[in-house]
Amino acid sequence: MSDSLVLTETRGRVGLLTLNRPKALNALNDELMDRLGEALLAFDADPGIGAMVLTGSEKAFAAGADIAAMKDYTHMDAFTGDFITRNWEALRRVRKPVIAAVAGYALGGGCELAMMCDIVIAADTARFGQPEINLGIIPGAGGTQRLPRAVGKAKAMDLVLTGRRMDAAEAERAGLVARVVPAARLLDEALEVATAIAGMSLPAVLMAKEAVNRAYESPLSEGLLFERRSFHSLFGTEDQKEGMAAFLEKRPPSFKNR
Ligand code: CAA
Repeated sequence: MSDSLVLTETRGRVGLLTLNRPKALNALNDELMDRLGEALLAFDADPGIGAMVLTGSEKAFAAGADIAAMKDYTHMDAFTGDFITRNWEALRRVRKPVIAAVAGYALGGGCELAMMCDIVIAADTARFGQPEINLGIIPGAGGTQRLPRAVGKAKAMDLVLTGRRMDAAEAERAGLVARVVPAARLLDEALEVATAIAGMSLPAVLMAKEAVNRAYESPLSEGLLFERRSFHSLFGTEDQKEGMAAFLEKRPPSFKNR
């Protein structure tokens, strides 16, 4: 196995990224986050790629930010060094869909990283949580903001204030996870979902992702207007003509803009 902190490979039109720091349960240090950001943005810019899968190991998607690396930080180190923002925000700039395939621990920054992805698929072994309170800190990569949006205030408060973990079934019930599959199926399931998305019309995929994300950023009236304008603009694509013609001719569509 390569000693790179993030392994990348392509499976057809899907870019697969694997966090590869197994001895530290994929603890997310600066170097790993730099590599991850570069790899995500490279796939995003690659016209041969239509969707990505981000995964970890059997035991851990990621056990959080690297505690050893940050234990001696001062306030000024964190603030002037722009801790978290400096290299964790690359995922927000990725326009193509990213699917998190989570097995084992997704704790702290690991849970936050999964929540930054567009779809979370979990193995039945997955464990999610925001245990930062046990370290005398709070989540710093969006946990207090994305978790309540995903699971509601009651459960988010419970998880953030007690640091307890929830298993895959609870995470699915709560709405954090889209699907739970047996651990042995995890990667295949995520790759199948990503492959299906990568076969769709790219403009429609990009607009669908933007529009769903807009639901979190704006009031309903603005979000609906944003959706309506995007919807209208897709009538200007060849793929809309192809998709609708294919439906009426009872054949699979062959999208040009992938
Ligand atoms: N940072 C650095 N190293 C970590 C780590 C982390 N977040 N999580 C695990 N490791 C290391 C351990 O130190 C250990 O290293 P050594 O073998 O060199 O001792 C190795 O990974 C294996 O870990 P354990 O021996 O602890 O494995 P375990 O199976 O007994 O327990 C675990 C697994 C429950 C996930 C436990 O490792 C754990 O609680 N990890 C910390 C989880 C955590 O607190 N995450 C939040 C971090 S703060 C954060 O993420 C802030 C933010 O919002 C961005």
